[in-house]
Parts: sequence; C-alpha cells; structure tokens
Amino acid sequence: MVKRIALFNHKGGVSKTTTTFNLGWMLASKGKRVIMVDADPQCNLTGLVLGYKGLSELDNYYQKHPERNLQAALAPAFESRPKEITAVECIETKGRRNLFLLPGSIKLSEYEVTLGIAQELSGSIQTLQNLPGSFSYVLAKTAEAYNADYILLDMNPSLSSINQNLLLTSDYFLIPTSPDYFSVMALDSLSTVIPRWADWSRKAQTLQILTSATYPFPNVSPKFLGIIIQKYRPRSGVPAKGFQKWVNEIKTTVTDKLSPVLNRYGLLLPESTYKEAGVGKDFCLSEIADFNTLIAKSQSARTPIYALSPKQIGSGGIILKNTIKSRDAFKGIFNDLATTILALTR
Ligand SMILES: Nc1ncnc2c1ncn2[C@@H]1O[C@H](COP(=O)(O)OP(=O)(O)O)[C@@H](O)[C@H]1O
Ligand SMILES: [Mg+2]
Repeated sequence: MVKRIALFNHKGGVSKTTTTFNLGWMLASKGKRVIMVDADPQCNLTGLVLGYKGLSELDNYYQKHPERNLQAALAPAFESRPKEITAVECIETKGRRNLFLLPGSIKLSEYEVTLGIAQELSGSIQTLQNLPGSFSYVLAKTAEAYNADYILLDMNPSLSSINQNLLLTSDYFLIPTSPDYFSVMALDSLSTVIPRWADWSRKAQTLQILTSATYPFPNVSPKFLGIIIQKYRPRSGVPAKGFQKWVNEIKTTVTDKLSPVLNRYGLLLPESTYKEAGVGKDFCLSEIADFNTLIAKSQSARTPIYALSPKQIGSGGIILKNTIKSRDAFKGIFNDLATTILALTR
C-alpha cells in the first residue's frame, strides 16, 4: 500500500517544496517508487522539476498537456463531468529513476471555495458528496498506476480547505519550519487548527452520504512524523547563536504544546516507533543548514544539492574541493532523514 506523507505548514518559505524534492529524490535513490504531488497553485515544485522559471513559462507545459495536472484530474468531480476520475500521467524526473511528479495548476485554487462548502455542508447536500473524497481518490488511482511506495504532498501555505482535506486524508505528516519567530507562531496556531480539522474528519468519516459516495471519504487518521528545522546559518557546524534561540523555541513548542495535543487526538505513532527510529521528545527529524551558494546550482541543474556532480558544481581547485565537502555533508543529512522516515513509516 502506498504511504502518503503531507508536508505541511501554513507559513510559506519554510522549505516545504525544497524538502519534498530533496526527500523524494533520496527515497527514490533508496529504491522506493515516489510520486511528488504539487498541491500548491503557485506550482513551485512543478517549476523546479520542469526547470521553468515562472508561471508564464509553465504555460507551455499546460498547453501541451492540459490533462496532466492535479486540477484537471479533479475536474470530473468539481465540474460534474460525465466522466470518472482516473490516474494522472505523471512526469518522470530528469536524472532520478523512480521519482515522479504529479504537476500542480494555478487553477486548483478555483476549487477551494466549493470544497470548503462541501466540507462544511456535505452531510446535507447530495450534489457535493463526491468532493471530500475526490483528492484521496485521484491520489490512490495514480499511486496504483505507478505502483508507488510513497506519495509526498507539497502543500500550499495556508489553512485552506484543500490543505484541510489533504492533511487529514494522508497517512503521515511532516512540518517543515525555519528557525525564526514566525515558525514558532505557526506551530502554536497549528496546535489548535489540526485538532479542529481532526474533529471534522472524524465526523465526516461517520457520514454515510460521504462514505457511500462515488469517491468515498477515506477512513484514515494521519500520524505526525515530526518537524524539520531548515535554513539556519551555521557556525562550526551548529546553528549560530541568533538561530539557536529559535531552534530551541521551536523544539520547546513541539514538546510542550503541539505533541501533547496531537497525542490527545490520536495523531501520534506509538511511542516505541519513535524510539526505535531514534526520534526524541522534540520530534525534530533533522536540522538542515542554509545551502548557501549551492541552492542556485541545485535549481539550475534541477538536482538536489547533495546529488550535484562536479560538472554541475562547475568550479575547480580548492572551491570545488570545499563545495564537494559541503555537498557530502548534506548528503549525509538527507540520507539520515530518509532513513528515519522509512523507519517511522515501516
Ligand atoms: N536549506 C536551505 N538553504 C538555502 N535556501 C533554502 C533552503 N531551503 C529552502 N531554501 C530556499 O528558500 C526559499 C523557500 O523555500 P521553499 O522550499 O520554496 O519553501 P515553501 O515551499 O515552504 O514555501 C526557496 O527560494 C528555496 O530555494
Ligand atoms: Mg512551496
């Protein structure tokens, strides 16, 4: 069975997209078949994989393959077409076997309001009954077609109805953060939002109108894998002082506030699973430094930092030597992160 992992934080710029790509690539290099789903109408992940620089350049892709994106795949349900939802034809990632992209679309936001209404009122309005289960259905169909082991969901930075749906119908979720004040605030607000969404989902699962729909609302309860703290400025291998303060605050917020609430709502894995995977009480799976100059090379090569070849790095001598050292350190970090995630989702 495919395992769905949502990468969620309603704050933008915390490396959701970057981590989806880097983690997806690493899981694929460990032999897993991975589909990355671009569920953000900004389509940054799609741009990264296709190597386009902006929405206008993406236009070309959508003209050529109007059916190959998440929004088009959902259209039969949202636009009441006399056609069933089917698997989406994904894009193979250049340079990495077993890694696929289900492209996003700016038009996905057009379904936001309708889905919101469906999620509030679907218990009473028959014509909306197919919407809450439709996202889960298209992902399941696509995973089946690709014989996927993992789906990684790159979500949009908001508390929208689509995020509510995707998060609560996933098997697992990860919360990427950056070491700053806003990430602490975001974790704080997620401690109230996620329980509210969990209540909604639990109720939706009991509504016959939804469970008997063409696209039934699934019976799942997502489990928290942990957080990632990314983009700190390092000093002698650890976060510089100004960053360390926020790293600590983030960890404290997860330990004292978020995780106890998630526990009460049944959104944690068994304690022994975290223990065996080496995950502590702060649920911090990885601390990842700023990629610095490597980020631009990674983006232009459409390849994770840690997988850049000397040719892609493009310099020589001592600079190349130092860059390779840094690249290999990141490789170790992402390798450990993927190993932990494999252990948690076994
Ligand atoms: N570890 C990192 N070091 C340097 N830059 C990073 C790192 N992680 C992400 N970025 C950059 O930060 C910006 C935001 O990251 P992104 O993954 O798009 O965040 P999100 O998807 O949460 O909005 C992007 O420009 C990305 O290239
Ligand atoms: Mg993003």
